[in-house]
Amino acid sequence: MGAQQVREGFTELYGTEPDGVWSAPGRVNLIGEHTDYNDGFVMPFALPHVTTAAVARRTDGVLRLHSSDIGGGVVELALDTLEPGTDQEWTAYPAGVVWALREAGHPVTGADVHLASTVPTGAGLSSSAALEVVIALALNDLYELGLQRWQLARLCQRAENVYVGAPTGIMDQTASACCEAGHALFLDTRDLSQRQIPFDLAAEGMRLLVVDTQVKHAHSGGEYGKRRAGCEKGAALLGVDALRDVPYGELDSALDRLGDEEEVRRLVRHVVTEDHRVERVVALLEAGDTRAIGPVLTEGHASLRDDFQVSCPELDLVVEAANAAGALGARMTGGGFGGSAIVLAETADVDTITKAVEEAFAAAGFKAPRTFEAVPSAGARKAD
Ligand code: GLA
Repeated sequence: MGAQQVREGFTELYGTEPDGVWSAPGRVNLIGEHTDYNDGFVMPFALPHVTTAAVARRTDGVLRLHSSDIGGGVVELALDTLEPGTDQEWTAYPAGVVWALREAGHPVTGADVHLASTVPTGAGLSSSAALEVVIALALNDLYELGLQRWQLARLCQRAENVYVGAPTGIMDQTASACCEAGHALFLDTRDLSQRQIPFDLAAEGMRLLVVDTQVKHAHSGGEYGKRRAGCEKGAALLGVDALRDVPYGELDSALDRLGDEEEVRRLVRHVVTEDHRVERVVALLEAGDTRAIGPVLTEGHASLRDDFQVSCPELDLVVEAANAAGALGARMTGGGFGGSAIVLAETADVDTITKAVEEAFAAAGFKAPRTFEAVPSAGARKAD
């Protein structure tokens, strides 16, 4: 849905013009999975799919929220009563951002919000981050808070961790806030330093496909938190602040030191090798050797499947079927336990690969997947 339509929807709903319209994208992660809460490296890029918000300021301490995608009317909340952990609905994301801004001392006194989104939900493509970031950016502009993009990302992460109660890292919010069209974002999640890496596959005769398995995932569920706790245990046993501090060259000796802590060893091995894979992908892209990243992506999938154990049969089948049909590489993307996989392919092979994956799903008795091409797109912006 375009900005103009969302503006008109606002006017119809609230009977006045909004002060502006903003949008923020979902993302896919090229490489660097489950590294962000270990202070490690990630490399997401923004999708063309966005959440769009028409917003007007209020001065009376009231927040009114409406989404054209979700049934139900306008939800009205009093800012003074916002409390972490009390909202189990979609409204927790935008309300959480308002809560986080106010908690940090920013003078937000209310808003009317009307939303529409093209980011698939529960598909591992960061629909929640898009929703958080669009609200944060709109309020930053409307209340002239002067916050930088990385600061907005941090506040959105706080909203998600504390208000919503999902223990996620900083990747998705930073991707939505900071990505640039035609680039992947090489992000150091320890200090949020960033480098935009040109990533124009079409110019080199390649495509990146997103295959949404349609298996829904949820991060407030326990498995994500368990992995995170396991990584923290690993860092504590190794005497480092975060697993990012275990150099790749010292992985074997670190694993030796973990003795018979089999589960922690697997988690540590994934995180340390995955950080290294991000650095390898950056080096290959900067050397212009784009096709060579394919096997690194597939290697990353194996590590997520076998060591980190966050894949599922549908994601494994995408990777297996796509690679058997001639893909350059493939991997699950996002938190896992369902959601989407990415496939790097020669442009000429896209149809064959898409068909092969569909046939493999049908043969396995899985629900048909949804495949689309991902073009690196712009980060959050004022849209109207
Ligand atoms: C989810 C989280 C991110 C990150 C990924 C895994 O998308 O929101 O912070 O941890 O999983 O890489």
